[in-house]
Amino acid sequence: MGRPQSIGRVPAVRLPALIQDVLLWYDPVGQLRRWARRHGDAFTVRLPAVGPILVLGDPSTARQALLSDPRAAEAGTATGRVLPVLGPACVLRQDGSAHQDRRRLLGPAFHGESLERLRTLAAENARREIRTWAEGRPIALLPRMQEVVFATMATAVLGIDDSETVQRLHRAITGMNGPSALARTWMSPVGDGAVRSWLSRRSRRRQSRVDAILAPIIDARRSAEPLGGSDVLSLLIGHERDSGSRIGQEAMNDELTALLLAGYETTAAALGWALERLARHPGAARLLAGSVDGQDSRHLDAFVREVLRWRPPVLDAVRELTTPMELAGFRVPAGTLVVVAPLLVHDNDGRVDAPDAFRPDRFLGARHRGGRNWVPFGGGRRHCLGAELAAVQMEAVLTEVVSAVTLSPASPCVETARLLGTVLVPSRGSAAVIRRRRAPMHTAARGGRPGQGSPP
Ligand code: HEM
Repeated sequence: MGRPQSIGRVPAVRLPALIQDVLLWYDPVGQLRRWARRHGDAFTVRLPAVGPILVLGDPSTARQALLSDPRAAEAGTATGRVLPVLGPACVLRQDGSAHQDRRRLLGPAFHGESLERLRTLAAENARREIRTWAEGRPIALLPRMQEVVFATMATAVLGIDDSETVQRLHRAITGMNGPSALARTWMSPVGDGAVRSWLSRRSRRRQSRVDAILAPIIDARRSAEPLGGSDVLSLLIGHERDSGSRIGQEAMNDELTALLLAGYETTAAALGWALERLARHPGAARLLAGSVDGQDSRHLDAFVREVLRWRPPVLDAVRELTTPMELAGFRVPAGTLVVVAPLLVHDNDGRVDAPDAFRPDRFLGARHRGGRNWVPFGGGRRHCLGAELAAVQMEAVLTEVVSAVTLSPASPCVETARLLGTVLVPSRGSAAVIRRRRAPMHTAARGGRPGQGSPP
């Protein structure tokens, strides 16, 4: 499809593409907000790697884009444009019936009984990790969360728990996210050309290290009898056996790697923000600990929802239009890349006062459960396949953290957001000082209210 070089009369950020890219890298949250203030709830940015993009921050227009007919607004094609680092055969890059079939096949790995098993596993992984934390000196907790979440995702996706293999795979996947991988995302500072292809080849070489670790795991499972397990790999091989047709090695690698990446970076980033907030909001932390001690999940649920509202780790839910569409009062041509920005949608949710204040109590009670303007997991038929697993992991890990330790910030300076791959993470890696808890914390909770404590 021919792709438009401009997007009708939509207000556009008028700076060279490279400058826009650098500004977004430097301060993703602040920059998106500045552009939205200046240009309104629908505006165009232009990046070297993908050309013009229509950014939507108004809740009802965002909903319209997310809920539109998937044939008119394709998520798979759009993901191929913004994240070519994910191989073409993975569910995130499919559209139409291929997408529906794959989503149906993978569903059991992330729902039902699998979820409860993964909740227990996430808690065990977190307990083991927390025991290693040294008291009284600054620790960057984001990398610790990445370890914990990766171990849980390795079981969900591959059905493995051998720690040596899990760690090797984690290192190889982290290697895929080096600077050369940037060439294979929408944030690449260089457009198509020799430099980008060179970087892209380098990034593929790194991916082959991941493939080499996956190969024996896949082979062993292919010869396992009975197959058992509801991890992604077992489901894919079960499908091969039922259909009598083998999934090619590359396609298998594409799916497994994409799901590891999609599940682990995002959830670890969300936990990174959750711990950063716990350290800076002692009132919310006390209520959370009290609620965990008393086995009442309301505050935990509210805290998780507020973290995902306040700093949604994924910057974009993307669609490519296959037909012209009326969006935010503009006629938007076919071929346009549309980005729903959860951060801006949350900022513009008229039912939320002081959107930039971190206040978990806004989610207490039936009045505000997030509702249709709460979109950290996107929406419509492409709604995040791992949303429940992400929430379950966050709840399990946070329960272990607040039961075992209290956190205080390593520095009085608030951590800004930076981009790691394409997710938003705290700029200093959630740096905090921990103290081990000696007694149930709710005894000290009198008078605390979520949101009290240091300002955001
Ligand atoms: C806090 C953690 C997470 C966040 C914030 C998040 C966010 C998102 C977002 C915004 C989308 C795009 C949805 C759309 O286009 O409408 C998405 C898609 C997806 N996510 Fe997540 N995600 C998280 C965790 C996970 C986990 C644990 C998995 C498990 C593997 C996962 C797997 C996927 C998949 C497979 C898709 C593509 C769905 C499709 O195209 O049908 N995500 N996620």
